[in-house]
Amino acid sequence: MRLIELFAPVASYFTINVSSPNTPGLRDLQQSAALDDLLARVVDARERVRKNAGDSPLLLKIAPDLTLQELDDVVHIARSRRVDGMIVANTTLSRPETLRDQVRAKEAGGLSGRPLLRLSTRMVAETYVRTEGAFPLIGVGGVDTGGAALMKIRAGASLIQLYSSLIYKGLGLVDDIKTDLLSTLRRTGRDSLAEIVGADAATITAEPWPV
Ligand SMILES: Cc1cc2nc3c(=O)[nH]c(=O)nc-3n(C[C@H](O)[C@H](O)[C@H](O)COP(=O)(O)O)c2cc1C
Repeated sequence: MRLIELFAPVASYFTINVSSPNTPGLRDLQQSAALDDLLARVVDARERVRKNAGDSPLLLKIAPDLTLQELDDVVHIARSRRVDGMIVANTTLSRPETLRDQVRAKEAGGLSGRPLLRLSTRMVAETYVRTEGAFPLIGVGGVDTGGAALMKIRAGASLIQLYSSLIYKGLGLVDDIKTDLLSTLRRTGRDSLAEIVGADAATITAEPWPV
Protein backbone atom coordinates (compact mmCIF):
# COMPACT_ATOMS: atom_id res chain seq x y z
CA MET A 1 0.00 0.00 0.00
CA ARG A 2 2.95 2.22 0.82
CA LEU A 3 4.42 1.60 -2.65
CA ILE A 4 1.16 2.62 -4.31
CA GLU A 5 1.16 5.90 -2.41
CA LEU A 6 4.82 6.45 -3.29
CA PHE A 7 4.75 5.55 -6.98
CA ALA A 8 1.24 6.50 -8.10
CA PRO A 9 2.37 9.92 -9.44
CA VAL A 10 4.91 8.30 -11.79
CA ALA A 11 3.71 4.74 -12.50
CA SER A 12 1.96 3.92 -15.79
CA TYR A 13 0.30 0.97 -14.07
CA PHE A 14 0.70 -1.34 -11.07
CA THR A 15 1.06 -5.11 -11.28
CA ILE A 16 -0.17 -7.12 -8.34
CA ASN A 17 2.15 -10.06 -8.81
CA VAL A 18 0.89 -13.06 -6.84
CA SER A 19 2.47 -15.53 -9.23
CA SER A 20 6.26 -15.57 -8.93
CA PRO A 21 7.40 -19.12 -8.16
CA ASN A 22 10.63 -17.84 -6.60
CA THR A 23 9.23 -16.14 -3.51
CA PRO A 24 8.15 -18.74 -0.92
CA GLY A 25 4.44 -18.49 -0.13
CA LEU A 26 3.69 -15.76 -2.71
CA ARG A 27 1.49 -17.96 -4.86
CA ASP A 28 -0.67 -18.71 -1.81
CA LEU A 29 -1.99 -15.16 -2.25
CA GLN A 30 -3.94 -16.50 -5.25
CA GLN A 31 -6.19 -18.38 -2.80
CA SER A 32 -9.63 -16.77 -2.60
CA ALA A 33 -9.72 -15.22 0.86
CA ALA A 34 -6.14 -13.92 0.74
CA LEU A 35 -6.56 -12.53 -2.78
CA ASP A 36 -9.84 -10.82 -1.99
CA ASP A 37 -8.32 -9.18 1.06
CA LEU A 38 -5.18 -8.11 -0.82
CA LEU A 39 -7.12 -6.64 -3.76
CA ALA A 40 -9.47 -4.80 -1.42
CA ARG A 41 -6.53 -3.11 0.27
CA VAL A 42 -4.71 -2.32 -2.97
CA VAL A 43 -7.83 -0.87 -4.59
CA ASP A 44 -8.44 1.15 -1.45
CA ALA A 45 -4.89 2.55 -1.51
CA ARG A 46 -5.27 3.44 -5.18
CA GLU A 47 -8.56 5.25 -4.46
CA ARG A 48 -6.92 7.22 -1.66
CA VAL A 49 -4.20 8.58 -3.94
CA ARG A 50 -6.29 8.93 -7.10
CA LYS A 51 -7.27 12.56 -6.46
CA ASN A 52 -3.70 13.82 -6.21
CA ALA A 53 -1.77 11.29 -8.24
CA GLY A 54 -4.22 10.52 -11.07
CA ASP A 55 -5.41 7.16 -12.28
CA SER A 56 -3.00 4.20 -12.23
CA PRO A 57 -4.46 0.99 -13.63
CA LEU A 58 -4.20 -2.07 -11.36
CA LEU A 59 -3.33 -5.31 -13.13
CA LEU A 60 -3.40 -8.74 -11.49
CA LYS A 61 -0.69 -11.15 -12.67
CA ILE A 62 -1.41 -14.85 -12.29
CA ALA A 63 0.48 -18.14 -12.57
CA PRO A 64 -0.17 -20.48 -15.50
CA ASP A 65 -0.29 -23.36 -13.00
CA LEU A 66 -3.70 -22.54 -11.50
CA THR A 67 -6.37 -25.21 -11.85
CA LEU A 68 -9.47 -24.14 -13.77
CA GLN A 69 -11.40 -24.17 -10.48
CA GLU A 70 -8.84 -21.80 -8.96
CA LEU A 71 -9.03 -19.63 -12.07
CA ASP A 72 -12.83 -19.41 -11.67
CA ASP A 73 -12.30 -17.97 -8.18
CA VAL A 74 -9.46 -15.62 -9.18
CA VAL A 75 -11.40 -14.11 -12.08
CA HIS A 76 -14.53 -13.80 -9.94
CA ILE A 77 -12.58 -11.87 -7.29
CA ALA A 78 -10.74 -9.73 -9.88
CA ARG A 79 -14.09 -8.78 -11.40
CA SER A 80 -15.77 -8.07 -8.09
CA ARG A 81 -12.83 -5.93 -6.93
CA ARG A 82 -12.83 -4.20 -10.33
CA VAL A 83 -9.19 -4.52 -11.28
CA ASP A 84 -8.34 -2.90 -14.60
CA GLY A 85 -6.91 -6.02 -16.23
CA MET A 86 -5.04 -9.27 -15.77
CA ILE A 87 -1.58 -10.31 -16.89
CA VAL A 88 -1.56 -13.94 -17.98
CA ALA A 89 0.89 -15.40 -17.09
CA ASN A 90 4.05 -15.73 -15.04
CA THR A 91 6.55 -18.59 -15.41
CA THR A 92 5.49 -22.22 -14.86
CA LEU A 93 6.59 -24.80 -12.34
CA SER A 94 5.55 -27.54 -14.76
CA ARG A 95 8.02 -29.13 -17.18
CA PRO A 96 6.69 -30.08 -20.64
CA GLU A 97 7.90 -33.48 -21.90
CA THR A 98 9.15 -31.75 -25.04
CA LEU A 99 12.03 -30.09 -23.15
CA ARG A 100 15.24 -31.33 -24.74
CA ASP A 101 17.50 -31.01 -21.69
CA GLN A 102 15.83 -33.23 -19.09
CA VAL A 103 18.65 -32.67 -16.59
CA ARG A 104 18.24 -28.89 -16.59
CA ALA A 105 14.48 -29.43 -16.57
CA LYS A 106 14.83 -30.74 -13.03
CA GLU A 107 16.31 -27.46 -11.79
CA ALA A 108 14.19 -25.43 -9.38
CA GLY A 109 12.44 -22.26 -10.48
CA GLY A 110 9.99 -21.02 -13.11
CA LEU A 111 10.21 -21.99 -16.77
CA SER A 112 9.78 -19.19 -19.34
CA GLY A 113 10.08 -18.72 -23.09
CA ARG A 114 8.89 -20.86 -26.01
CA PRO A 115 8.14 -24.00 -23.91
CA LEU A 116 5.64 -21.88 -21.97
CA LEU A 117 3.75 -20.66 -25.05
CA ARG A 118 1.13 -23.41 -25.21
CA LEU A 119 0.20 -23.46 -21.52
CA SER A 120 0.18 -19.68 -21.08
CA THR A 121 -1.88 -19.18 -24.27
CA ARG A 122 -4.38 -21.74 -23.00
CA MET A 123 -4.58 -19.76 -19.75
CA VAL A 124 -5.21 -16.53 -21.71
CA ALA A 125 -8.14 -18.23 -23.46
CA GLU A 126 -9.47 -19.70 -20.20
CA THR A 127 -9.25 -16.30 -18.52
CA TYR A 128 -10.82 -14.54 -21.52
CA VAL A 129 -13.96 -16.70 -21.50
CA ARG A 130 -14.36 -16.06 -17.76
CA THR A 131 -13.95 -12.27 -17.91
CA GLU A 132 -16.73 -11.74 -20.47
CA GLY A 133 -15.08 -8.50 -21.54
CA ALA A 134 -14.99 -7.02 -18.02
CA PHE A 135 -11.37 -5.92 -18.52
CA PRO A 136 -8.53 -6.46 -21.01
CA LEU A 137 -5.90 -9.20 -20.74
CA ILE A 138 -2.17 -8.83 -21.24
CA GLY A 139 -0.81 -12.01 -22.80
CA VAL A 140 2.70 -13.09 -21.84
CA GLY A 141 4.62 -16.33 -22.13
CA GLY A 142 6.74 -17.57 -25.00
CA VAL A 143 6.06 -14.76 -27.47
CA ASP A 144 9.05 -14.69 -29.83
CA THR A 145 7.48 -14.08 -33.27
CA GLY A 146 4.55 -12.23 -34.85
CA GLY A 147 2.80 -15.61 -35.17
CA ALA A 148 3.08 -16.27 -31.44
CA ALA A 149 1.80 -12.76 -30.68
CA LEU A 150 -1.15 -13.42 -32.97
CA MET A 151 -1.91 -16.67 -31.13
CA LYS A 152 -2.09 -14.73 -27.87
CA ILE A 153 -4.37 -12.08 -29.40
CA ARG A 154 -6.68 -14.69 -30.92
CA ALA A 155 -6.75 -16.43 -27.51
CA GLY A 156 -7.96 -13.20 -25.86
CA ALA A 157 -5.04 -10.83 -25.25
CA SER A 158 -5.48 -7.13 -26.00
CA LEU A 159 -1.85 -6.39 -25.15
CA ILE A 160 1.34 -8.46 -25.29
CA GLN A 161 4.41 -8.58 -23.07
CA LEU A 162 7.69 -10.35 -23.79
CA TYR A 163 10.70 -11.12 -21.69
CA SER A 164 12.79 -14.22 -22.54
CA SER A 165 12.75 -13.71 -26.31
CA LEU A 166 14.26 -10.24 -25.89
CA ILE A 167 17.33 -11.91 -24.39
CA TYR A 168 17.75 -14.22 -27.40
CA LYS A 169 16.64 -11.88 -30.19
CA GLY A 170 17.20 -8.36 -28.86
CA LEU A 171 15.01 -5.26 -28.85
CA GLY A 172 14.60 -5.30 -32.66
CA LEU A 173 12.18 -8.19 -32.10
CA VAL A 174 9.47 -5.74 -31.06
CA ASP A 175 9.63 -4.02 -34.46
CA ASP A 176 9.68 -7.40 -36.25
CA ILE A 177 6.55 -8.51 -34.40
CA LYS A 178 4.75 -5.25 -35.17
CA THR A 179 5.68 -5.55 -38.86
CA ASP A 180 4.37 -9.14 -38.91
CA LEU A 181 1.11 -8.12 -37.25
CA LEU A 182 0.65 -5.27 -39.71
CA SER A 183 1.13 -7.55 -42.70
CA THR A 184 -1.39 -10.00 -41.19
CA LEU A 185 -3.90 -7.15 -40.93
CA ARG A 186 -3.28 -6.11 -44.54
CA ARG A 187 -3.49 -9.69 -45.81
CA THR A 188 -6.79 -10.32 -44.05
CA GLY A 189 -8.25 -6.90 -44.96
CA ARG A 190 -8.87 -5.90 -41.34
CA ASP A 191 -8.55 -2.40 -39.88
CA SER A 192 -7.65 -3.40 -36.35
CA LEU A 193 -6.37 -6.32 -34.29
CA ALA A 194 -9.18 -5.57 -31.83
CA GLU A 195 -11.49 -7.39 -34.24
CA ILE A 196 -9.76 -10.71 -33.58
CA VAL A 197 -9.15 -10.50 -29.82
CA GLY A 198 -10.53 -13.78 -28.43
CA ALA A 199 -11.51 -15.16 -31.85
CA ASP A 200 -10.03 -18.58 -30.96
CA ALA A 201 -10.89 -18.63 -27.24
CA ALA A 202 -13.85 -21.00 -27.59
CA THR A 203 -11.89 -23.46 -29.75
CA ILE A 204 -8.83 -23.40 -27.47
CA THR A 205 -10.84 -23.93 -24.28
CA ALA A 206 -12.61 -26.92 -25.86
CA GLU A 207 -9.28 -28.77 -26.21
CA PRO A 208 -8.37 -31.48 -23.64
CA TRP A 209 -7.26 -30.31 -20.19
CA PRO A 210 -4.68 -30.37 -18.63
CA VAL A 211 -2.44 -29.09 -21.43
C1 LIG B 1 14.75 -14.06 -14.98
C2 LIG B 1 13.29 -13.73 -14.88
C3 LIG B 1 12.86 -12.84 -13.90
C4 LIG B 1 11.50 -12.51 -13.78
N1 LIG B 1 11.10 -11.61 -12.81
C5 LIG B 1 9.79 -11.28 -12.71
C6 LIG B 1 9.36 -10.34 -11.73
O1 LIG B 1 10.15 -9.81 -10.95
N2 LIG B 1 8.03 -10.05 -11.67
C7 LIG B 1 7.14 -10.63 -12.51
O2 LIG B 1 5.94 -10.33 -12.43
N3 LIG B 1 7.52 -11.53 -13.45
C8 LIG B 1 8.81 -11.86 -13.57
N4 LIG B 1 9.21 -12.77 -14.53
C9 LIG B 1 8.20 -13.40 -15.40
C10 LIG B 1 8.09 -12.66 -16.74
O3 LIG B 1 7.65 -11.33 -16.55
C11 LIG B 1 7.10 -13.39 -17.68
O4 LIG B 1 5.82 -13.40 -17.08
C12 LIG B 1 7.54 -14.83 -17.97
O5 LIG B 1 8.94 -14.92 -18.11
C13 LIG B 1 6.88 -15.38 -19.24
O6 LIG B 1 7.20 -14.57 -20.35
P1 LIG B 1 8.38 -14.93 -21.41
O7 LIG B 1 8.15 -16.35 -21.87
O8 LIG B 1 8.23 -13.89 -22.48
O9 LIG B 1 9.66 -14.80 -20.66
C14 LIG B 1 10.56 -13.10 -14.66
C15 LIG B 1 11.00 -14.01 -15.64
C16 LIG B 1 12.35 -14.34 -15.75
C17 LIG B 1 12.78 -15.34 -16.82
